[in-house]
Amino acid sequence: MIKILTVVGARPQLIKAAAISRAIATHYSDKIEEIIVHTGQHYDHNMSAVFFEELKIPKEKYNLSIGSGSHAEQTARMLMGIEKLIVDEKPQAVLLYGDTNSTLAASLAAVKLHVPTIHVEAGVRSYNKRFPEEVNRLICDHMSTLLFVPTRAGIESLVAEGFKEHSEAKADLNAPKVFYCGDIMYDNTVYFKHVVEQAKETIVDKLGFSNKKFVLGTLHRPSNVDTEESLLSIFKAFEVVAKQHNLEILVPLHPRTQSKMQGSAFDFVKNNPHIHITEPVSFLDMIALESKAELVVTDSGGVQKEAFFMEKPCLIMLDETPWVELPETGTAILVGNHFDTIVDAANTLLSKKDSLSYPPIFGDGKAAEFICEQIIDTFA
Ligand code: UD1
Ligand code: UDP
Repeated sequence: MIKILTVVGARPQLIKAAAISRAIATHYSDKIEEIIVHTGQHYDHNMSAVFFEELKIPKEKYNLSIGSGSHAEQTARMLMGIEKLIVDEKPQAVLLYGDTNSTLAASLAAVKLHVPTIHVEAGVRSYNKRFPEEVNRLICDHMSTLLFVPTRAGIESLVAEGFKEHSEAKADLNAPKVFYCGDIMYDNTVYFKHVVEQAKETIVDKLGFSNKKFVLGTLHRPSNVDTEESLLSIFKAFEVVAKQHNLEILVPLHPRTQSKMQGSAFDFVKNNPHIHITEPVSFLDMIALESKAELVVTDSGGVQKEAFFMEKPCLIMLDETPWVELPETGTAILVGNHFDTIVDAANTLLSKKDSLSYPPIFGDGKAAEFICEQIIDTFA
């Protein structure tokens, strides 16, 4: 039995981890033992527990309850907690997802103990180190032993940084192996879309949106939500888009954004009949909303890809995206947080919505099985 320690902490990692846990339970339970560690980076019920329940992720064996804090404070507390667990549990490898501070801490703790790390969503680059995620990705990739890359662009980025794609040697701390495997989030969309399609009633009905056309918005990047100026610019653009196209705007609000919604941004949204704010929703609710939305507007890495999986046009509220293929398909436009750009790009995408096409660039929805097979090949 191969013992792996999976470290998760933030909402998108719980969702990504669900795909591997499901693959292990379905096909590999006699070969892989997974021990789940939750750092506690996200802790509200609707940012954490709801995903364990709904996506049937096995309950974590350990919760470090780290919570929120500055980057150094949060990462340092995680490092100490994870180091102790690796020493106690003696896993053959540590499995990591994405690019959060939980990923960074687990990567550093493991490599210093000479325990190989498996990085799912490797090779993703925005080439902007002002985003903490880019720093986390760079460090984690360069400390990893198995790197699972969702896109061809990711492979090219790693090769440019000195990695080799096809290495025959057995993977080792000093001889990492890189695999193209497709996007693990696509596994989940494919799997849970069917579940949502079977449901008699979804969040869309419950919100009274069944006969309404709406835009789904999410925002949580510090560059968008940490100043009132950018928040107001975004919400004012939402209002104009709603009025020009006779749309409602639905925004399940991330807790970081919620904590910043004060003063005039709060007043603007509160008094606006077209902008509907809710608590963060569950993953099945998100799938239901994405499937019915006219347009998705987001700064989320995951949501911009899911818009594509669900064949919806998307405004990416960033100046650059690590998912470079999305704007290249013409189905998504980078708009930053600029009022005019958001309004113009919404007009552009809504006017050609029916002629957009969504080529299959994120794999076959079976990334999790491929990853498990490689783990078995390497560590059995
Ligand atoms: C983190 C990740 C980001 C990822 C996002 C996914 C880092 C550096 N950032 O950003 O890459 O895209 O998660 O959602 O790891 N809060 C709560 N309740 C919670 C969690 C957070 O109220 O359950 C609030 C707190 O005020 C906290 C703030 O949100 O200070 C930010 O949380 P944090 O985890 O530090 O960063 P995110 O912005 O969530
Ligand atoms: N998501 C969710 N509920 C919400 C908002 C997002 O379940 O209210 C899901 C979304 O469908 C995607 C993931 O969370 O699978 C993206 O996470 P997030 O936007 O927090 O982080 P990022 O992907 O930007 O790191």
